[in-house]
Amino acid sequence: MAAPLAIGPLDDTAQDGVRALAAAAQAADGVAPVSEQPLLRLGADEPWLTHAVAHSKHGTVIGYVQVDRGGQDASAELVVHPEHRRQGVGRLLLRTAERDARLPQYSGTPGQRGKALRVWAHGDTAAAQGFAAAAGYVVVRELLFLARPLTADDAGARPALPDGYRVRTFVPGDDDEAWVALNARAFASHPEQGRLTAADLRDRQGEPWFDAAGFFLLEAPDGSLAGSLWTKVEPGQPAGGRDGEVYAVGIDPDHQSRGLGQALTAVGLAHLATVADRAVLYVDGDNTAAVRTYERAGFERAAVDVQYAQA
Ligand SMILES: CC(C)(COP(=O)(O)OP(=O)(O)OC[C@H]1O[C@@H](n2cnc3c(N)ncnc32)[C@H](O)[C@@H]1OP(=O)(O)O)[C@@H](O)C(=O)NCCC(=O)NCCS
Repeated sequence: MAAPLAIGPLDDTAQDGVRALAAAAQAADGVAPVSEQPLLRLGADEPWLTHAVAHSKHGTVIGYVQVDRGGQDASAELVVHPEHRRQGVGRLLLRTAERDARLPQYSGTPGQRGKALRVWAHGDTAAAQGFAAAAGYVVVRELLFLARPLTADDAGARPALPDGYRVRTFVPGDDDEAWVALNARAFASHPEQGRLTAADLRDRQGEPWFDAAGFFLLEAPDGSLAGSLWTKVEPGQPAGGRDGEVYAVGIDPDHQSRGLGQALTAVGLAHLATVADRAVLYVDGDNTAAVRTYERAGFERAAVDVQYAQA
């Protein structure tokens, strides 16, 4: 069965259809199939971003892929409705994404070559593994999901900082530009985080979870930004089961290897302990320095997201 495919920007109805599809997959698989950034971009109409939606013969949304050609590699997230799997919809969406990845980033700009495609599998389920293997894809990156319980001791912790450094909270508007520059320096080699723009930052400030009281900036002795730690707590979580995410920690390369990451992590945990029951975070499996920092802070592996690419 060939599902009718619509490629292009999504109107409000199509966006709602994709959100409902993602919710149905999450209920069936126990893991969200599409991550935060692509969900925030459902309404985006950009030359480097492609949306493709597969429909049933009744017109309901049964599959979706989003391809982001803005980074060094093209990155896709794809999902098929649990009741419409094993009918070739996933394969159709993957072929579409592969073709899309080969397009230049900006049409009409000469001298550009297409990009290699990477596909995310959140939770790396058996279905994703079978699907990736059938398409000739192998694991090229692992994103670890680490967790650790929060205690009253964490809430009372007052971590020591090297002389002259101080921690304060983020001031929306005033700190936007300086934070974007710091984030780009700290995550220069990170494919997603290092590309965050002032507009991305403002999108997040508009989210219901945004709370400047959980967004910490580390100032160097000369007053410049040396690092930041941003936490995220989704509202409406059940008491006793609230997750607080260490959302992004970055130390400027000029200030690394002085224990600042560890001190800032303790500041974040002290805050999270007052608003959540468990601290969670994502970190690249090959980021040994960060993984070690978090393990030393008591975090353990709870799940993994995997990126696949053609072998
Ligand atoms: C992974 C996913 C996209 C597959 O979608 P789908 O429409 O069922 O896939 P297709 O029907 O096109 O499957 C193509 C081939 O992949 C393999 N495959 C698909 N699902 C599989 C499963 N559960 N177990 C083993 N192999 C599987 C098979 O070889 C299949 O061919 P076949 O049905 O002729 O045997 C779907 O299960 C899904 O949405 N999962 C949640 C989101 C996700 O993990 N996305 C990342 C994918 S890398």
